Amino acid sequence: EQNHRESLMIVSGYAAKFFHESLLDTDEGQNIGLSYFKERGFSNDTIKKFELGYSPDQWEAFTGEAIKQGYQEEYLVESGLSVKRDNGSLYDRYRGRVMFPIHSFTGRVIAFGGRTLKSDKNVPKYVNSPESEIYHKSNILYGLYFAKRSIREEDNCYLVEGYADVISVHQAGIENVVASSGTSLTVEQIRLIGRLTKNITILYDGDAAGIKASLRGLDMILEEGLNVKVVLLPDGHDPDSYVQKFGTNAFKTHIDQNKKDFIVFKTDILLKEVGDDPIRKADAIRDIVESIAKIPDFIKVELFVKQCSSLLAIQERSLLTEVNKIKLGKQ
Ligand code: UTP
Ligand code: MN
Ligand code: MN
Ligand code: MN
Ligand code: MN
Repeated sequence: EQNHRESLMIVSGYAAKFFHESLLDTDEGQNIGLSYFKERGFSNDTIKKFELGYSPDQWEAFTGEAIKQGYQEEYLVESGLSVKRDNGSLYDRYRGRVMFPIHSFTGRVIAFGGRTLKSDKNVPKYVNSPESEIYHKSNILYGLYFAKRSIREEDNCYLVEGYADVISVHQAGIENVVASSGTSLTVEQIRLIGRLTKNITILYDGDAAGIKASLRGLDMILEEGLNVKVVLLPDGHDPDSYVQKFGTNAFKTHIDQNKKDFIVFKTDILLKEVGDDPIRKADAIRDIVESIAKIPDFIKVELFVKQCSSLLAIQERSLLTEVNKIKLGKQ
């Protein structure tokens, strides 16, 4: 109930403050965490704004202090900040990691992502808070609290994969950016954006996984009745690495020159794989037609059919017939 949720948010807010102070005010935090963020190009203002932190590399540094301050075990465990041992004692979930607090729509801290500083393949890169009464992963977009004003103003939302992408893109002056944070994009997340703008630009990592996720994401966005564009990054880059390496201007130029309407994006990707084989080409076209058929608005459907027809040199009539077959089949 309400008090219970409030208690979870209070302990999470306390933890954010603890990790932030440990980053800025302790030797370990400065030497390990702060220097890591500095190497990644995060400014002091950015670190403050996103309340970035550091969890000391000890078993009970946070839990011990929280208990001393009077926070109850129940909430420490439920929020996922502390983990219960078999013997009933508690230890810190996050140890020796840089910390990314996750904020609710109204700016309360509700969860964390903690990144390891080791390059050991056996250590998970990010440890995230478990689901709780205040944190339902599928309903949360990282960065939304900081982005919502700009999303409305720009009437567009950039969708990226990760924490660092949100932060670096934001720092570059593009503030209308949110991340689905590893979990594959959900309908709830799209609807959250849909309350602020009808336009989403997918800016996922430039690798096979990113392309696959873009194709899946664009179909879901179309199905929700929103408009979607896709920007592909060079292989091996994500928005964070690109903007940090090449700078803000190059990043903006890349977006302007590579932003593709969903049909063009899909056509490029699919037809590249197909070559001249007519049967495979037909499959690819059917795939594109299936995306168009997901659009609820018939006027948009017709406009996209026109575009598709000229892109692929297929009669509008044939395309529209196929689209209608799919739409009827779904009723
Ligand atoms: P990436 O593997 O692309 O990481 O995962 P990244 O964001 O580029 O991280 P850096 O730049 O190496 O620090 C994208 C997102 O998926 C989630 C995180 O939210 C991450 O930001 N993820 C990834 C996890 O939750 N756990 C993982 O082990 C890996
Ligand atoms: Mn409960
Ligand atoms: Mn990735
Ligand atoms: Mn990255
Ligand atoms: Mn990445």
